[in-house]
Amino acid sequence: MSGAALPNTPPLSRTRAAPIFAVASGKGGVGKTWLSTMLSIAFGRAGQRTLLVDCDLGLANIDVQLGVRPTADVHSVVRGFLELDSAVTPVMGGPGRNGGFDLIAGHSGSGALGAIKLEEVARIATGLTKLAPHYDRIILDLAAGIDPNVLRFARAADRLILVTTEEPTALTDAYAMVKLLHLQGAKIEPWVIVNMAESRSRGRRVFDQFAMACNEYLGLKPKFAGAICRDPKVPDSIRAQTPLPVRHPQSQAYEDVIRIVEALNAG
Ligand SMILES: Nc1ncnc2c1ncn2[C@@H]1O[C@H](COP(=O)(O)OP(=O)(O)OP(=O)(O)O)[C@@H](O)[C@H]1O
Ligand SMILES: [Mg+2]
Repeated sequence: MSGAALPNTPPLSRTRAAPIFAVASGKGGVGKTWLSTMLSIAFGRAGQRTLLVDCDLGLANIDVQLGVRPTADVHSVVRGFLELDSAVTPVMGGPGRNGGFDLIAGHSGSGALGAIKLEEVARIATGLTKLAPHYDRIILDLAAGIDPNVLRFARAADRLILVTTEEPTALTDAYAMVKLLHLQGAKIEPWVIVNMAESRSRGRRVFDQFAMACNEYLGLKPKFAGAICRDPKVPDSIRAQTPLPVRHPQSQAYEDVIRIVEALNAG
């Protein structure tokens, strides 16, 4: 997605090193936060220095899923107390081939996302521009839904990674997000991930139906990033606050994530 400049938001530099991926969904609970951390690990293992930013400003929980204790968070940046680069917490040793990455944690309970002002979103966007040359990949874990601030973050990114499940409600809400961004004039070409799929082939069929609707009614051609099977090792690893490939070196869900990273890197 090529980020049309946000209203009153400084446009992100076109010369930066790291493309920004926004992980979004219409419906909540489809696996964005879990997937954002897995993408960060898998990009790292593929040799890409990755920064993960928790942009779920109201109900952040990447640090909780990972069991890390950040010393600073994005809330301090939003409030102007810190520059974005001072809010970075290295996870699993920081960026490197062991799957480590840098995290800018969120701040749970900092208030509804809607209460965050436009300038505060802009401050994060500007901070990302400064940090981008230090990384190969930047991943934004967004809040669910179509709140204006969520859409601003989505538009500030280069690529929209749209997460859905096979459920009609998740698909309808994903479609609503694409439609709204389209109506706002954003040049979007979302990459779709079908999570918690019964099988990869079923996930593909669900994507095909979604893509057909986007094409027919909006003239858009979403790309298929891949499907991730429902895997009981995922909730197990979250309960243990240990990343999936660390707790379970072999798992269907992480294998699916690796394929997705290959597709994203190729596309
Ligand atoms: N592939 C999977 N297999 C099984 N369970 C999964 C899978 N992916 C995610 N989950 C489950 O879904 C739950 C919700 O995941 P997560 O918190 O990442 O969703 P989210 O989209 O970020 O939610 P929110 O919209 O509230 O931010 C997790 O606690 C996990 O147990
Ligand atoms: Mg989340």
